[in-house]
Amino acid sequence: MQKVLVTGAAGFIGSHIVDELIRQGYDVTGLDNLSHGKKKNVNPKARLIIADISDDLSVLDNYDYVVHHASQIDVMKSIENPLYDANTNILGSLNLLEFCRKTYVKKIIYASTGGAIYGKPKQIPTPETCSVDPDSHYGVSKHTVEHYLEIYRKLYRLNYCILRYSNVYGPRQDCDGEGGVIPIFIKKMLNKDTPMIYGNGNQTRDFVFVKDVVNANLLAITKKVPKRIINIGTGKETSINELHEMITKTLDIDIPKLYGHSIKGEIKRSAVDITVAREYLKWAPSTSLSQGIALTIDALKEKNI
Ligand SMILES: NC(=O)c1ccc[n+]([C@@H]2O[C@H](COP(=O)([O-])OP(=O)(O)OC[C@H]3O[C@@H](n4cnc5c(N)ncnc54)[C@H](O)[C@@H]3O)[C@@H](O)[C@H]2O)c1
Repeated sequence: MQKVLVTGAAGFIGSHIVDELIRQGYDVTGLDNLSHGKKKNVNPKARLIIADISDDLSVLDNYDYVVHHASQIDVMKSIENPLYDANTNILGSLNLLEFCRKTYVKKIIYASTGGAIYGKPKQIPTPETCSVDPDSHYGVSKHTVEHYLEIYRKLYRLNYCILRYSNVYGPRQDCDGEGGVIPIFIKKMLNKDTPMIYGNGNQTRDFVFVKDVVNANLLAITKKVPKRIINIGTGKETSINELHEMITKTLDIDIPKLYGHSIKGEIKRSAVDITVAREYLKWAPSTSLSQGIALTIDALKEKNI
């Protein structure tokens, strides 16, 4: 049985990856410090190690694959506390890479970001070849690890695949402060509250459903691909105004749009080009935004939020 270590396993995306790995018969260990994730998210058929990626990892077993999702994910927090961000996202990841090198891991999959590293892209949808120009410490820290991965490949032949996600959404995503706009809007609306749209709502994002992101990870583990950096998204832009309308329509409620001040430095448009994923990973998103919104609403209703 192939052994996989998933970091960030108690978090939103990592916990769904654990579920699918278990379903496909892998021997799965999750590692999470529970700073943002929840123990209850982790499939009981997986082992869970409660630890920090910066801890001494020499006590761990050897693994065939490492799927690295542990990260501090809050852009604002990275700007307010860049040392905290760098400690987790850069130094923690480097510690993990040392572990991978010393234990001859066959491949590491790294969750990077397509939303925070291209800055204000010159091309939309943005291909992987577009110049990287992050607007936040988070973008810099996530991108820095991409460079380290290439160094570890060159020096130690550590095989890797970088998946640059657009805006991932779905069940188990935090519906409060550090969460995504979709569960935040849904939670507010289910509670008959009016969510705030920052700015004029014309800013666009590329929303990809978590199950599709999980499938990309599974393919990245098993497939030998000549490309090492792969965007994962839908290639489609949806504005926050359109999103508001889709959610109210699905919930069949009438909630007015409430506009607030725009967020300084917020990117106006964002969508990633997924040609490489389609061609080499043989991956494409299969969940439409309306289907994904309905599934996220069902999950939140089930939790009685
Ligand atoms: N959600 C998105 O839209 C999105 C987009 C692009 C990239 N990503 C990347 O995907 C990954 C997962 O994101 P998510 O949305 O599931 O976030 P999440 O916060 O739900 O999951 C991250 C997990 O990592 C854990 N963690 C944080 N610091 C840790 C540390 N030092 N040691 C061990 N565990 C630690 C947290 O407790 C949490 O469970 C992250 O690397 C993030 O940068 C997410």
